[in-house]
Amino acid sequence: MTDIEQIQQAVLQIMVIVKDQLRTNLNFNHVEKKSSRTDLVTERDKQIEKQIIAFLSDRFPKAYFVSEEGYGDCLTDLSGLVFFVDPIDGTLNFVKSHDQFASMIGVYHDGQPIFGAIADIMQDQIFYGGPELGAYVNQQPLAPLINQELSAGLITVSSRLLMEQLNNYRSIINHSSGLRIFGSAGIIFTRLFQNKEVVYISNLKPWDLAAGLAIGKAMGLQAINIDGAPINMLKSQTVIIGTKCATIETKDLLS
Ligand code: 2AM
Ligand code: CA
Repeated sequence: MTDIEQIQQAVLQIMVIVKDQLRTNLNFNHVEKKSSRTDLVTERDKQIEKQIIAFLSDRFPKAYFVSEEGYGDCLTDLSGLVFFVDPIDGTLNFVKSHDQFASMIGVYHDGQPIFGAIADIMQDQIFYGGPELGAYVNQQPLAPLINQELSAGLITVSSRLLMEQLNNYRSIINHSSGLRIFGSAGIIFTRLFQNKEVVYISNLKPWDLAAGLAIGKAMGLQAINIDGAPINMLKSQTVIIGTKCATIETKDLLS
C-alpha cells in the first residue's frame, strides 16, 4: 500500500469514529470562552483533538500536528508530513443549534496538500479526497465543479467580516444571487464542493482551511489570499475561495 492510501485509510477510520461519537452524544460537558463570548471551546473539542492526534501519531510517528486546541506541535515550517486538525469546526453551532458543524483533518507533505476529510456530522457525510485521488462524499465521486459566475450563485461572507467591514463587501453581495451565513468553514467548503455556493470570504486559521483546500484542489476550486499573497498555512488570513470565475470577479470588485 502506498503512503497516500495508508493516510487516506487512517484519516477516514478516525473520522468515522469521531463522527459517530458526536452524532450519538451531543453533550458538550463543559464550555469555556476563548477570545470572546462567541468564541467557544468545549470539553468535546479537547477530547476529540487528543483522540485524533493519538490515533494518527501512533500510525505516523514522524508526523507533525497543527491543531486548534493546543495538543499539537508549534511549527515554524511545513517540511515533512503535517496533519492539520480541527476537532469541531463551528463550535458555536455545536453548542447552540446542534447542527452545521464539522470535524476536519487536512494532510500536507512539504507544504503541499495531499489529502483532506471533512465530516458533516449531522448529515452523516464525510467529504474527502486530494489532488491525486479525486473528491468523494461517502465513497461516491463528487460531481464536477461548475465554473459559475458570481451572479449565478449564493455567497458566504463570515459574520465577523460583515459586522466589521460591511461596506467592503456590499458590492460583491449585490453582484451575487444572495448572501448566506453558516458559521462553519467546513460546512461552507462542502457547499462549494456541491455547486451550492460560488464564493466564500472569511478570515481563517490553518486548521479551518487545510482539509477544504486539499479536497478543493482535486476539484479545481480556487483559493486566494485577499491581499494577493500566496496562502500561508502557518498563519490566519482572509481568503476568497470559490469557482475560478467568481473568485476573480470577487477579487476585482475588491480592488
Ligand atoms: P471554529 O468553530 O473551529 O473556531 C465561524 O465563522 C467560522 O470561522 C468557523 O469555522 C470558526 O471555526 C472560524 N473561526 C476562526 N477563527 C474564529 C474566531 N476567532 N471566532 C469565531 N470563529 C472563528
Ligand atoms: Ca474548532
